[in-house]
Amino acid sequence: MADVLTDRLPLFPFRSPDDDPFTPVTAADRRTLDGPVTRVRLPTGGWTWLVTRHADVKQMLRSDAFSADMSRPGFPLLRPLPPQTERNSQGTFIRMDGQAHLRLRKMLTAEFMIKNVRRIEPLIGTVVDDALDALQEAGPPADLVATFALPVPSLVICHLLGVPYADHAFFQQCSSVMLDEGADPLRVRDAATGLRAYLGGLIESKRAAPEPGDDLLGRLISERVRTGELEVGELVGMAVLLLIAGHETTANMIGLSVLLLLRRPDVWQRLATGDDETVDGIVEELLRYLTIVRTGLPRQAVRDVEIGGRLIRAGEPATALLSLANRDDDVFGDGAQFDPYRQAHQHLAFGFGVHQCIGQPLARAELRIALARLARRLPGLRVAADPAHLPKRDLSIVYGLAELPVTW
Ligand code: HEM
Repeated sequence: MADVLTDRLPLFPFRSPDDDPFTPVTAADRRTLDGPVTRVRLPTGGWTWLVTRHADVKQMLRSDAFSADMSRPGFPLLRPLPPQTERNSQGTFIRMDGQAHLRLRKMLTAEFMIKNVRRIEPLIGTVVDDALDALQEAGPPADLVATFALPVPSLVICHLLGVPYADHAFFQQCSSVMLDEGADPLRVRDAATGLRAYLGGLIESKRAAPEPGDDLLGRLISERVRTGELEVGELVGMAVLLLIAGHETTANMIGLSVLLLLRRPDVWQRLATGDDETVDGIVEELLRYLTIVRTGLPRQAVRDVEIGGRLIRAGEPATALLSLANRDDDVFGDGAQFDPYRQAHQHLAFGFGVHQCIGQPLARAELRIALARLARRLPGLRVAADPAHLPKRDLSIVYGLAELPVTW
């Protein structure tokens, strides 16, 4: 609840400086932070403890003293909850706790294990090559977000789930509204209801078929729904989560990474010519430095707990600010610098603890293949706009560029 004291707190979320899309917090905002665990004001009127150090973020995210259930009163919300959230959230295990969360997550762990992702690497390669062929055929200039960064992960997740890519305009629009923290709650509700209805219809048609299909949704129908382990409504929620998380995140990473790499011709060249280990290292540093889940991970304490020397009481909200934790100088020397040759693997861009990103092997494979092949095919790629004026997705939970005009 807002009060006089809350009104004096710095307003969160923070924005990048206008001329620097890579720095997550302006120097002025940073100066308003009163310590590594400090209170900030939320646009919904309340406040949250902002946890900014690497060690504290890890401690918070691995602790069972915090809930991820945003329907709890007092949860740190960046926008009011849309009406009908309850109806639209069945199966959304990213917002569940304890056994309820684990039960659904475990049904997907094998699908996203590294060895299974290796099997779809040839498919990722084909999707990337096709997108590059189309880009070269159409010739410069091009918007790299619309022609490459967005379609590549979108096509891959569609193939994996068994969702027709022909419907991408619809689900990309829904997911961008659902992630927009500035969007009207009624629009968010309509987007969530629409996406659930769309995926519900698709799942029903797979269920009605004698063979539901050899894709993730088909397999979950045969192995879990038909055995009575999983409700259809839960599967629909899992599909919504995977479809959104599966393309928005990687797409924004690709767009921002290219903008950054084109300022560093030495790294662009290393990406094209380097061995797997070099490319993996560059990708890890990009994940750390860009930390696209900019608004952090919201939680609520379910019991009293001490984080970074602060007592967080039961019922109080807390937000793990991954972007600052990933620039913590104690872990990443000179963390504000992009250094593709450093050991960045301790970064927290995929979160930490029980909710740590299940799709990370897939995301890493997509980034590695997409960026290395782009650099090989178009060594002379350059940005065709003033980088300071590129449209950014400042109000999205997943930060990125709305467009990236390029030429070659
Ligand atoms: C670079 C790309 C990606 C980034 C930076 C990213 C980041 C994250 C983060 C920070 C979380 C933790 C959320 C929390 O604790 O509240 C998360 C969870 C999750 N991510 Fe990702 N992600 C990426 C790609 C993907 C992909 C490709 C998929 C799916 C195919 C995916 C599916 C998920 C799911 C299902 C969860 C929820 C896990 C759970 O609650 O147990 N992500 N992701």
